[in-house]
Amino acid sequence: MFKKVFSLSLVLLLALAALAGCGNTGQNNSASENQTEEKQETQEPGEVNLYTSRHYESDVELYKIFEEETGIKVNVVEGKGDELLERLNMEGESTEADLFFTADAGNLHTAKESGLFQTVESKIIEENIPEKLRDEDDQWFGMAKRARVLVYSKDRVKPEELSTYEALAEPQWKGRVVARPSENMYNISLLSSLIEVNGEEDAKAWAKGFAENMAREPQGNDRDQAKAVAAGEADVAIMNTYYIGLMLNSEDAEEVKVAENVGVFFPNQETTGTHINVSGIAVTKHAKNAENAVKFIEFLSSEKAQGRFAEVNYEYPANPNVETAELLKSWGDFKEQDISLSVLGKNQQQAIKLFNEAGWK
Ligand SMILES: [Fe+2]
Repeated sequence: MFKKVFSLSLVLLLALAALAGCGNTGQNNSASENQTEEKQETQEPGEVNLYTSRHYESDVELYKIFEEETGIKVNVVEGKGDELLERLNMEGESTEADLFFTADAGNLHTAKESGLFQTVESKIIEENIPEKLRDEDDQWFGMAKRARVLVYSKDRVKPEELSTYEALAEPQWKGRVVARPSENMYNISLLSSLIEVNGEEDAKAWAKGFAENMAREPQGNDRDQAKAVAAGEADVAIMNTYYIGLMLNSEDAEEVKVAENVGVFFPNQETTGTHINVSGIAVTKHAKNAENAVKFIEFLSSEKAQGRFAEVNYEYPANPNVETAELLKSWGDFKEQDISLSVLGKNQQQAIKLFNEAGWK
């Protein structure tokens, strides 16, 4: 009873407020008042909640621009990719996350397989993002590209000596190459791609040969590989392009020096192309603000937003209509592996197995 009285008075209050708000002369019947109310409610821009493993200035700027343009508030939870993934898993239906944004198609695939995403239908995203950079069921979308390239000592290696990832498994590179551990998703995805373009046997032979040629036990992150080359510990390393951009523009003078000492080489230009990967975003399965979440992805895929990824974070825009940053242009155009990134997820388990068998720690 109390509840009923309460809700009736609430309706009355709301109706009065609506009348006062629009300066109505009082001719509305209650049905149309309710409609007005409902309409106002759906017009509220509301909010969108994002879990992201990215921690870049470019992204923060983009949240702000999106908020200004749409009125939709972007609430951000930053964290490590695997921790956010675990959190999303644990929270299940009650999660507040509408969006999940992380690096590597391999990670996105894992989350998709766990049933954490939903399919998104959007003509805008479809037009902005090439098919090979999207999940085959449109459950995630690549937003920014990176190439996994070779960096080499400008003192000890001539670029003419380099050709392919595969060539680095040959005896002449014994004790001269470095890369991070095989548990790292960037490497798992690289090997997944080589399984796709070369077949399982060749991919395994490469992993074995490369591991045997390593100058030291695999360790550290991508930047540490460039540091090892600059320090003379190795001659060639495998790493992602944006780290070179970030190091060249770092506030840390040591990092700048390291980056200036290494050359960038895009392997497999005469053969299967350089391996590329993405940072990608998805709408979560239990998103409460799914409509806003799609709007956010549409915005990120737009030419305006894509330009920021390129300028601030040295990533290649996923939207082909957007120009890349000057630094990246200075490295030249390159041929990419011609595979759908969905493949990286599909070959993931096999790649992990091959790394183990090959002895790449
Ligand atoms: Fe990274």
